[in-house]
Amino acid sequence: MTLLAEPPTAVTPTSSQRRLVDGYGRHISDLRISVTDRCNFRCVYCMPEEGMQWLKRETILSFDEIQRITRIAVGLGVDEVRLTGGEPTLRPGLPDLVARLAPLPLKSLSLTTNGFLLKQQAQPLAQAGLKRINVSLDTLQHDRFHQIARRRGLDEVLAGLEELERYPSIAPIKVNVVAMRDFTETEVVAFAELSRRKPYVIRFIEFMPLDADGNWQRERVLSGDEIKAIIERDFMPLVRVPAEPSSTSRRYTFADGIGEIGFINPVSQPFCGSCNRIRLTADGQLRTCLFSIDEWDLRGPLRSGASDADIADILLEAVSHKELKHKINEGEAFQRASRSMSQIGG
Ligand code: 5AD
Ligand code: SF4
Repeated sequence: MTLLAEPPTAVTPTSSQRRLVDGYGRHISDLRISVTDRCNFRCVYCMPEEGMQWLKRETILSFDEIQRITRIAVGLGVDEVRLTGGEPTLRPGLPDLVARLAPLPLKSLSLTTNGFLLKQQAQPLAQAGLKRINVSLDTLQHDRFHQIARRRGLDEVLAGLEELERYPSIAPIKVNVVAMRDFTETEVVAFAELSRRKPYVIRFIEFMPLDADGNWQRERVLSGDEIKAIIERDFMPLVRVPAEPSSTSRRYTFADGIGEIGFINPVSQPFCGSCNRIRLTADGQLRTCLFSIDEWDLRGPLRSGASDADIADILLEAVSHKELKHKINEGEAFQRASRSMSQIGG
């Protein structure tokens, strides 16, 4: 028998001591919330052209429910929230949700959007307290826009970006370009020029196997390094800008310091080791990885009287099981995620 120097004290952690830390020591501080699975585009790397099954309306979390989960997550250490979709601007009253979340003690409250409705929504979103934005845009040519999004909309997206420039409280304005081989190569210089002409941070994202059609192939991934080489060969040398350790993006400016370009290389240079993210689907399921096969139900407990402490327990338990990394580069071991991108929200 061991004699203890001090009597053991049963420490019941107070909520302020409980933190979302996974089994590998990663602190989870970034919550991405999908507010709808619907979209007005049908991007080839994300949605099927037809036949998408929408979530039933009654399964979609209300603003009250989203606000409550977010507040509990913030109590556990989350300090960045990003609203996503589908296309989040299709959710009626989106600025009201932003206004509800804005008073929380967050370092960042951001939105990922396809930009189609931004011309109308930029002002209400800015007034509601949105702090950052990512606009998806994969080409600067009309016919190619239709090829990717299977809808028209380039003028609207560009107008939405222009409108954003009127609201300096939303900064920086980031543009996400999904890079695909045999498509994006000829867009690269035009985007590089755009990033020098406009106050936009253009970020190329490697194509991941999250497309609903299951057409992803490794050969279709155009790596960040290949794009960087095209910019340096056909345009101008880039200079590295230091980024925060948890940042997924490698940042560069041009040799004369004008403009910014970023590379998000989840396939060629996975950053899972510093992943600080979890995701909440529109129907209230928690995903601890983009590529999760399993989800943690929050909607059921929320709607059957769970206390804040119960919800916190589920978040802590889910995070403790967070996946180590994706297996895109592990051949046979790779299993597609249980949902495609538009149902997760990026
Ligand atoms: N691979 C990489 N990025 C993707 N996105 C959507 N689908 C994919 C994919 N299969 C990006 C979109 C959007 C963000 C939510 O994720 O461009 O900006
Ligand atoms: Fe819609 Fe975004 Fe998916 Fe395109 S990537 S179909 S804009 S959710």
